[in-house]
Amino acid sequence: MTLLEQITALRTEIELEIQLIDSVEAADSFRLKHLVKKGTLQACVEGLRAVAREDKPLVGKALNELRAMAEGAFALVQESFERQSSTPAIDVTLPARGPRRGALHPITQTIDRLVEIFTSMGFEVAEGTDVEDDAHNFGKLNFAPDHPARDMQDTFFIEHADRSDVLLRTHTSSVQVRVMESMKPPIRCIMPGRVYRNEAVNARSLAEFHQIEGLYIAKGVSMADLKGTIMAFARRFYDENAEFRFRTSYFPFTEPSCEIDMSCFLCKGEGCRICKHSGWLEICGAGMVHPNVLSECGIDPNEYSGFAFGFGVERVVLMLNGIDDIRLLYENDIRVLSQF
Ligand code: PHE
Repeated sequence: MTLLEQITALRTEIELEIQLIDSVEAADSFRLKHLVKKGTLQACVEGLRAVAREDKPLVGKALNELRAMAEGAFALVQESFERQSSTPAIDVTLPARGPRRGALHPITQTIDRLVEIFTSMGFEVAEGTDVEDDAHNFGKLNFAPDHPARDMQDTFFIEHADRSDVLLRTHTSSVQVRVMESMKPPIRCIMPGRVYRNEAVNARSLAEFHQIEGLYIAKGVSMADLKGTIMAFARRFYDENAEFRFRTSYFPFTEPSCEIDMSCFLCKGEGCRICKHSGWLEICGAGMVHPNVLSECGIDPNEYSGFAFGFGVERVVLMLNGIDDIRLLYENDIRVLSQF
C-alpha cells in the first residue's frame, strides 16, 4: 500500500471514529490513537521521508488536509463535551420548588383562633360527646317536655334497645350541663363542638355543623360581664372599632336572653353584601343562665349566677370570607380549600 493509499484509508477511519465518539473517554482514546506524537498521523509524517521526491507535494498536501480535518473535528467534539459539563441539566440557581403543603380546614382554623382568644381571656376548653341524652340536651336546660325543639323534625334520635332518649346533640349547650355537673364555680369554659339537626341541606343550612359555647359562673356575675366579654372578644376577632346592639330574645336556658349584633366589619354600618345591607351582623345568642338550669346542675342559684353564649362556627367562616354557600365548606373541593 502506498502512503497515499494509507492516508486515504486513515481518513475514512478517522471520519467514522469521530462520529462514534460519545463520551469523554472515547474522545481521549481517539486523541491517543491519532493525534499524539506516537499516533497514526505522526507515523504518516515519518513515512513521508521514503516517498519519492516528485510525489512528496501531493502526498504531503493530502496528509496536511487529513491532519487539519482530524484536529478540527476533534476540537468541535471536545468543545461540545465542555459545553455539556459546564451547563448541567439541573440549574441550581433556579428558586426551589417547595413541597406542596396541606393546611388545616378553614373551620378548624377558625375554631383554633376563637379558642385562642377565649383562652387568653381566661376561659378553658371543655368537650362533651356528640351522642347525648335528652336530659343533657334539653331537660336540664329547662326545655319543657313539650318544647317543639325536641320534635322529631329537628332532632336525630338514636335507636337504642332499651332507651328512647338517646340523640345527637342539637347544640353545644349540652356541654354546659356536663361542665356544671362536674366542676365547682368559678367556672369559665369555652366549648367547641359538632352539632346535628334534622334539616334540609341547602346554601344556608346543613344537618351537621359546629358551634362554640361559652359559660361563666361565679358569684355576682351580671349582664355587664356578658356585654364586656362579648365586646372584648368581637373587637379582637372581627374589628377593633365595632359597635354593638343587644336585642332581647328567648332561649329556655337563659333569662334574660339576647342576641348580640355587631356593626358590619366590612362596610362599618353603611350596608353591603356581607351584612345584607343592614349594617349589622349577628354574632351570637346569649343570656344569663336560668336559675332552673343552675339548680338542675347542682349549683345554688342564690349563691351563684352566670352567663352563657353560643354561636355557629360555619357562619363565622362564611361571613369572614364573603362565601354565600355553606355547602362549599363540606365538599372538600381542593380549589376551595387551597385558598385557606
Ligand atoms: N344553644 C343556642 C343555639 O343553639 C345558642 C345559645 C347558647 C344561646 C348559649 C344562649 C346561650 O341556638
